Amino acid sequence: MSFSQSTLNRRRFVLAATGSAVGLLAAPSILRASGEINLYSSRHYDTDEALYANFTKQTGIGINRIEAKADQLIERMKAEGTNSPADVFISVDAGRIERANVENLLQPIQSELLSSRVPSHLRHSDGSWYGFSKRARIIVVSKDRMDPEDAASYETLAGENMKGRVLIRSSGNIYNQSLMGSIIAAHGAEGAAKWALGMVANFARSPKGGDRDQIKAVAAGEGDVGVVNNYYLGKMIKSSKQDQRKAAEKVTLVFPNQADRGTHVNISGGGVARHAANKAGAIKFLEYLTSDQAQEYFAAGNTEYPVVEGVPLASPLDTFGAFKEDSLDVQKFASLNSQAVQIMDKAGWT
Ligand SMILES: [Fe+2]
Repeated sequence: MSFSQSTLNRRRFVLAATGSAVGLLAAPSILRASGEINLYSSRHYDTDEALYANFTKQTGIGINRIEAKADQLIERMKAEGTNSPADVFISVDAGRIERANVENLLQPIQSELLSSRVPSHLRHSDGSWYGFSKRARIIVVSKDRMDPEDAASYETLAGENMKGRVLIRSSGNIYNQSLMGSIIAAHGAEGAAKWALGMVANFARSPKGGDRDQIKAVAAGEGDVGVVNNYYLGKMIKSSKQDQRKAAEKVTLVFPNQADRGTHVNISGGGVARHAANKAGAIKFLEYLTSDQAQEYFAAGNTEYPVVEGVPLASPLDTFGAFKEDSLDVQKFASLNSQAVQIMDKAGWT
């Protein structure tokens, strides 16, 4: 675990991958002064510094950040039980945030501001969690070897003409599980099972690596088409590493399903922890995240889309163009997670 303290009375703690829950429970990091909140977050982006500093400046509420991978945070909160010092939980992917909710780690809250600022399909219906930025699961195609019109939808990737051409990461990945949840919602379990079989039959290789690796593999000619979250392409386009920029230059972005339901959209978000000692401060923080300025910082931190309309887009999203989003309730595909996993397992999607 590393430790640093800023002059703004904000403390930040990072759990090493090997950090033990016991050691962390004993750490001074979880002590809370009044007028502070403990934020359990799997985010760690440069713009977050400005985001948190602004909140403290506006409200006088300090933020103690406890950062780790989402599953580690969930395990930690479970282990802490009713003594958990967490006030706010922030993570990515509705499927994963709903997992924390199912584990009874979050509590429903009512806030007129949150209800009016966050569209209803991007939050839990009882107020247990809210989306604060959006990520689109896009298709990238080789500029040299594929016509974008041939990959206009997720469904086209499971077609006969895609044999050996499709790149996508493993089914253990939450983004694919959520995408599959949206396919179930669109086509029913049987249709989704067919789609999964078609996808597996078309894989260019056994699923491996992260989303950036799929873009690199398309660029390298291992396959012709990949499925990735928009921010990976965005970050590669503006990367300081030449190989990443070069790979990104070799693909064309396709927003899938523009002719029908729209592109699958997921969220980064979070909610108030079940045993929050500073519930009022936690709600204030969530509300603050929907302010125009915080929306800009929060989304820009990971090259995502703000959930509040009219907030400026981070570069290079402003060059990607407008697109039609699947308006499926994120809570819906999150609730289909276990069915989605079963379908992918059965199809042999490793
Ligand atoms: Fe990601």
